[in-house]
Amino acid sequence: MIGYRFMGKAHSNAWRQAPHFFPLKAGVELHTVCGRDPKGVEAAREQLGWEHASTNWEEVVNSPDIDVIDINTPNDSHAPIAIAAAKAGKHVLCEKPLALTVEQCQQMLDAVKKAGVVHMVCHNYRRIPAIAQAKKMIEEGALGDIFHYYARYSQDWIVDPNFPLVWRLQKGVSGSGTHGDINAHIIDLGRYLVGEFSEVCGLMHTFIKERPMMDDSGKGQGLGGKGGKKMGKVTVDDAAMFIGRFKNGALANLEATRFALGRKNHIELEINGSNGSLHFDFEDMNRLKFFDNSDPQDRQGFRDILVTQPGGTHPYVGGWWPPGHIIGYEHTFVHTIADFVNACVDGKPVQPTFEDGLRNEQVLAAVEESARNRQWVKV
Ligand SMILES: NC(=O)c1ccc[n+]([C@@H]2O[C@H](COP(=O)([O-])OP(=O)(O)OC[C@H]3O[C@@H](n4cnc5c(N)ncnc54)[C@H](O)[C@@H]3O)[C@@H](O)[C@H]2O)c1
Repeated sequence: MIGYRFMGKAHSNAWRQAPHFFPLKAGVELHTVCGRDPKGVEAAREQLGWEHASTNWEEVVNSPDIDVIDINTPNDSHAPIAIAAAKAGKHVLCEKPLALTVEQCQQMLDAVKKAGVVHMVCHNYRRIPAIAQAKKMIEEGALGDIFHYYARYSQDWIVDPNFPLVWRLQKGVSGSGTHGDINAHIIDLGRYLVGEFSEVCGLMHTFIKERPMMDDSGKGQGLGGKGGKKMGKVTVDDAAMFIGRFKNGALANLEATRFALGRKNHIELEINGSNGSLHFDFEDMNRLKFFDNSDPQDRQGFRDILVTQPGGTHPYVGGWWPPGHIIGYEHTFVHTIADFVNACVDGKPVQPTFEDGLRNEQVLAAVEESARNRQWVKV
C-alpha cells in the first residue's frame, strides 16, 4: 500500500476486515506500507498493522513477495506508480481520480491491459448498500425511463481564508479542486446508475484565490495543516457545477462545492423516471427513499427503505449484522476490497475499472473545457 494517511487508514482497515466478514477466495497479508517520511511510515506500519515499512515505492512495486499494489497517494503520483506496478505484473487498486489528465488515464489503462492484471479505481460509494440497491432497482425497471439525475456533493472545510494551501488546492498535484476530488464521485455514480454522459456545460469558480502556504513541517497535508506567513496562489476550483445530457436522453445536474457551510460530507442524489423516483442522502446512508407511481394514489409518497436486510435481500449487508444494525463509511471500503480480492483470484474484471476511471476523467475534462470556453462540450 502506497500512502498511509486518510485513505491509507481507510484501506488498511478494509484489508484487515474484509476476510473476517466476506468469503474471500484468498488470504490477505498486509505486507508493506510505503510513504516518503521514514518515521511517519514506521509509525503507520505499527498503527495500521503492516509487516514492513518502506520509503521507496519502486522497490515495493517490484517486490516478488507482493501480488497487489494499493495506491493511496495524491493524484499526481497515481500514473507512475500504477504503470510501474502493472509492468511488474501486480494487480492494481488505485484511488480516484484515476490521474491528472485523460492522457495519463489512457496510459494507465493501456499498461494494465497489456500486463493482463486486474485493475480497479476506488469509487467506494458504488458499494454503499443503498446505492447498490438503487442500481438493482433501476436495472429491474423500477424507475422506468430516466428523466433526471440530480447530484450534489457539498463540504465546508475550506471556507476559512486562513486554511492553508494543502495539496488538494494545488493543480500540479491534484489536477483540479472540488471537481476531481468530489464531482468525480457523483459523476461516477451518474455513470453507474444512469449511463454515459453525452454533453456537458459547466461552471467552475475559486472563491479564495490566495492562501497561506504550508509551513516547513508540511504536516497534515491531507485535509488540514498549519499555514505559514507566506501566501500562495490557489490554482484549483472551490466549486464546480454542470448540467448535461446522458446518451439515453436523461438530463444531468451536478454540483460540487467545499463552500457549503454546515455541509460536512453531504452527498445527495435524486433520480426521477417515468415509473418512480429514488432519493439518497449519504449522511443517512443506510436508507433509500423510493416513490412508486404504481402505488394506489391515495397512499402515494416516498417510502423509506432501511437497506439493512441480510440473507441476500439487500447487497453487501448480509456480511455484517442483523437487520437495522446499521453500517457506516468504512464498510464501503471493505466491500470494495472484498470484491477486488476475489476478482484478483479469478483474474476477472471488477467494476469500476481503469476504463471507468478514464471515462470519468473524460467527463471532468469536458466540463473544464466548457467552463473555460463558456460553451457546451461533447464528452
Ligand atoms: N475514495 C474516496 O472517497 C477518497 C477520499 C479521500 C481521498 N481519496 C483519494 O485518495 C488519495 C489520497 O488522498 P488522502 O486524502 O489519503 O491524502 P493524504 O494527504 O491524507 O495522504 C497521502 C499519503 O500519500 C503519501 N505520499 C505522497 N506522495 C507520495 C509518494 N510520492 N510516494 C509515497 N507516498 C506518497 C503521503 O505521505 C501520505 O501518506 C487521493 O487520490 C484522493 O483523491 C479518495
